[in-house]
Amino acid sequence: MTRVIRVGRPTAAFAALMLGACARPGAAPVMSPSLAAPVAPVAAATAAAAPAPATGVAARPVTVVPNPNAPKVLVIATGGTIAGVQNAPGTLGAYRAGTLTAEQITASVPELARYARVETEQFSNVASTLVTPEMWVKLAKRINVVLQRGDLAGVVVTHGTDRLEETAFFLYLTVRSSKPVVVVGAQRPATGISPDGPINLLSAVRTAASPKAVQKGVMVVMDDRILSARESRKLYQRTGGFSTGDMGMLGVVASQGPEFFFAPVRRFGERSEFDLDGVDTLPKVELTMSYPGGTGQTFTTNPKGVVVATTGMTAAENATYRALRQTGVVVVTSFTSGENVNGGGGGDGPPPPARVDTTAQRDPAQRESASRDSVARPAAAPVPPGVTALHLTATKARILLMVALTKTKDPREIQRIFNEY
Ligand code: SIN
Repeated sequence: MTRVIRVGRPTAAFAALMLGACARPGAAPVMSPSLAAPVAPVAAATAAAAPAPATGVAARPVTVVPNPNAPKVLVIATGGTIAGVQNAPGTLGAYRAGTLTAEQITASVPELARYARVETEQFSNVASTLVTPEMWVKLAKRINVVLQRGDLAGVVVTHGTDRLEETAFFLYLTVRSSKPVVVVGAQRPATGISPDGPINLLSAVRTAASPKAVQKGVMVVMDDRILSARESRKLYQRTGGFSTGDMGMLGVVASQGPEFFFAPVRRFGERSEFDLDGVDTLPKVELTMSYPGGTGQTFTTNPKGVVVATTGMTAAENATYRALRQTGVVVVTSFTSGENVNGGGGGDGPPPPARVDTTAQRDPAQRESASRDSVARPAAAPVPPGVTALHLTATKARILLMVALTKTKDPREIQRIFNEY
């Protein structure tokens, strides 16, 4: 037996919740970070006292026949513009990201029921600039747990677009499942003119529900494009703003559903070696840029690793980062565009030989003084090799380094990891 859902207007309950959300102009973002369990709807308490609602969410007359046999998909909401509500709905004006709940954003897309039996869970409700590495760890652990459910086809994570690519890449490295995980956001708030959230959510759920999406790793689905989380990046703040650069997309969400044309072949998912058991925080890794005339950066934060975005370092920068490596900090260089492939070795090949780099070898003055010295002095300690990122932006190289440092501090082993993932 099928149930017909007719949606012409938001339900009274939904309207009340929306009003509650809208009735707090200028309030701080709702922060309930790091919650592995569902939280209460953010606005329910304030809704009752409010006057007649004007939700701002455009009514869409639609008749949906739910598919009772559709795959189950869990939508885990974290916040962002996809859950954003404007102070003046229906305008191009300011809005608060992370306002609507998981329930509210899925309820506003009744078409989801054609393709999936959707469950929801509220992980947090924040602008994505408030998402922390500790939250990545909690979210990945939660997804690893729920994907063990035999009845669940896949997971969708709704997320702010500002930091979406980072969270998606962390999940790509640490969710050890073949089931699809799709990260989705929107560049226009739910109450805006032509919001992109509803269609993006529908495409994300269709992808997560699809058997074609198995073994594709964590994906970003935006604007009908299916992108690998490894390559996806936000190029600009308009719809269509997510891209994968030279590497292209995995597929497209067409009218008939997701169509894949490519599959990722690097290491991820079930083949990932990164086990988050016992990990609650990630090692500190700093990120910096090199530039003409640069002398390199030193840090007071005691990082375990540093990523330098560079197309080629100055001699002074080289010296600074060589000295940093000498202190045991792992230094990774990443090409500024993230598009470079040379330097890290082959994806399936052996790690490149360590570049043994001693001051005595490099510095002619020291070499000369060493040869004049009749008393044998101990050779200078070899400088640990630097690590080269392979076709990763610096922000993603930082995440891979943070994850790699949970396993090893050996730069040769970390180079192997950069070559494989
Ligand atoms: C955010 O990242 O939370 C706000 C921006 C967006 O979602 O597009």
